[in-house]
Amino acid sequence: MKTITVAASKTYDVLVGDGLLDKAGSFLRKTIGGQTVVIVADDNVTELYGKRLEGSLVKSGYRVAQFVFPHGESSKNWETFFSLLNFLAEEKFSRSDVIAALGGGVTGDLAGFAAASYMRGVPFVQIPTTLLAAVDSSVGGKTAINLASGKNLAGSFYQPDIVLCDVSAFSTLPPDVFRDGLAEVIKYGMIADCSIFQSLKTPVNTQLEDIITRCVEIKRDIVTEDEFEKGRRKLLNFGHTVGHAIELLSDYSISHGHAVAAGMAVITRAAVRLGLCKENCLPGLISMLERYELPVNTSYKADVLARACLSDKKRDGESLTMVFPLEIGRCILKEIPVDELESVIQLGLERNEK
Ligand code: GLY
Repeated sequence: MKTITVAASKTYDVLVGDGLLDKAGSFLRKTIGGQTVVIVADDNVTELYGKRLEGSLVKSGYRVAQFVFPHGESSKNWETFFSLLNFLAEEKFSRSDVIAALGGGVTGDLAGFAAASYMRGVPFVQIPTTLLAAVDSSVGGKTAINLASGKNLAGSFYQPDIVLCDVSAFSTLPPDVFRDGLAEVIKYGMIADCSIFQSLKTPVNTQLEDIITRCVEIKRDIVTEDEFEKGRRKLLNFGHTVGHAIELLSDYSISHGHAVAAGMAVITRAAVRLGLCKENCLPGLISMLERYELPVNTSYKADVLARACLSDKKRDGESLTMVFPLEIGRCILKEIPVDELESVIQLGLERNEK
């Protein structure tokens, strides 16, 4: 088992290893305490892991209640959020009890925002069951729900008390969901670590613990320096501005990882045409995305994408901070005036690679 300590506004450990679900009760007892744990999970994840987590918590003396919601991004809304808050109140949940987010990014974001809001903040554990949540959304304290005009428009920064990442959970993921996580791993390779990018050229299943650990270390370093995304943390949004627009335009039928994959390809193509990026960067990224059957473009037009991007929260007055690659392993932030956004995206939509 690997332990990565994140020293942000709250200091907490991210544990990465096999079988952590069955040890969750004793880790929670040691690090948080409390009497009641409310497990927040969607219907699919509850079916797969709800009983195992409950068993481990009960063994450690917890009273357990489960809040189950329909799976999918469309549940990350005000209605589910309010029913979760009401559920906590009905369960007489107190400040010394614990919310456990068991699932992927939707669950972590929703449960985390409820943990940040209920009684102005209650203890919270992230138990990611998708690769995407393990390498990205369970760490760093971003919590949110979607509004009609965009993704993650209401939320807060609220760090968990511990993250338990049971690597064995990822073996049951449908291939498409696993690939969503690989898109985020490719993102880490592009922004910070050429060697993790290269490691994806060999089978990932045998190196999953190392890959997750490395991604969490990169995220730990960034979040420690810039928890509230004033600067460097924006690098983690590589591919996300266009990616969020694609998710929104598809009414979330295109998943986050797939949308981010297309977004990374679009912005890298634009970077090449703007003369920012080394030549081998684009073919390297495209062939890596194709290796994992991830999209390398989108059929949405530049004007439609630009309008959707502008409803994204990353807009800052008359400009947008966007992430452009210089080479594999190194990206920069660049302010793009709002009225130039469409032409930048257009550059990224026109394919010039074979
Ligand atoms: N998912 C990007 C971040 O946590 O900043």
